[in-house]
Amino acid sequence: MGIDFHAQTNKASYVGREAHADWTSLIVELADPRGKTVVDLGCGGGIYAKAWADLGAGRVIGIDFSPVMLEAAEENCRGYRQIAFQQGDAAATGLEDQTADILFARALIHHLPDLPACLAEAFRLLKPGGTILLQDRTPEDVRLPGSAEHLRGYFFACFPRLLQVEEARRPGAEKVVRELAAAGFTAIAHLHAWETRKVYAGADELAADLLSRKGRSILHELTQDELQQLVSYMLERVPDQGPIVEKDRWTIWVGRRP
Ligand SMILES: C[S@@+](CC[C@H](N)C(=O)[O-])C[C@H]1O[C@@H](n2cnc3c(N)ncnc32)[C@H](O)[C@@H]1O
Repeated sequence: MGIDFHAQTNKASYVGREAHADWTSLIVELADPRGKTVVDLGCGGGIYAKAWADLGAGRVIGIDFSPVMLEAAEENCRGYRQIAFQQGDAAATGLEDQTADILFARALIHHLPDLPACLAEAFRLLKPGGTILLQDRTPEDVRLPGSAEHLRGYFFACFPRLLQVEEARRPGAEKVVRELAAAGFTAIAHLHAWETRKVYAGADELAADLLSRKGRSILHELTQDELQQLVSYMLERVPDQGPIVEKDRWTIWVGRRP
């Protein structure tokens, strides 16, 4: 199965939430976007394009290969004159050389058939001295067990076969470091961070979110019956009172175009 990013039915997959303050406070330590041009590769519905603009970026260009995602992004970011969206592949965006001060790609690289081609394009798009920021989950991140906050961990406890899907599509931290170096980036570092994904008023809201499969491509590997089973499994394990705070563990790679 797997998600079809081009299907109208998945249009709302990457909208409907805002980047959390824990993401913004971390990201400004890694790259200062004030007055700068940010290219958001694989921008989805523009959640992070908007966040970069709110952080003071002078210009944000969101690139995605899916017209459906871009339609959602345009709607989500209406009124933001510093944001523009454009259709393009991560390996061939159509943008000019040295367009960007910051090249950002969140939750993109595990969907790519050719990471080196994407990194070559990222290198081409950055100005000398520009910063690449990749944010994704590695197999190590994915394998962390479920808990009251790390809800995703329960997906794999309930359906272990999903772990095989993740391990097949997600490069490890060191592999990405090697690919960044091979593409010509310098000052490469990586770190781990927890990002609050969403705060749910309670279990009903969490159940509805899971059943929508929104923003969780891995759940497209399950049938509707399996998804129902997963929701029951998780509701037995999350607090039954008060808000539920969901956090995801990410790896963030930083590099510089010399
Ligand atoms: C998991 S979503 C992440 C969206 C957004 N970056 C976020 O974090 O909310 C991945 C996005 O990458 C896009 N995408 C996948 N493969 C792509 C490619 N080869 N070129 C451009 N965009 C791609 C999808 O259409 C989708 O919008």
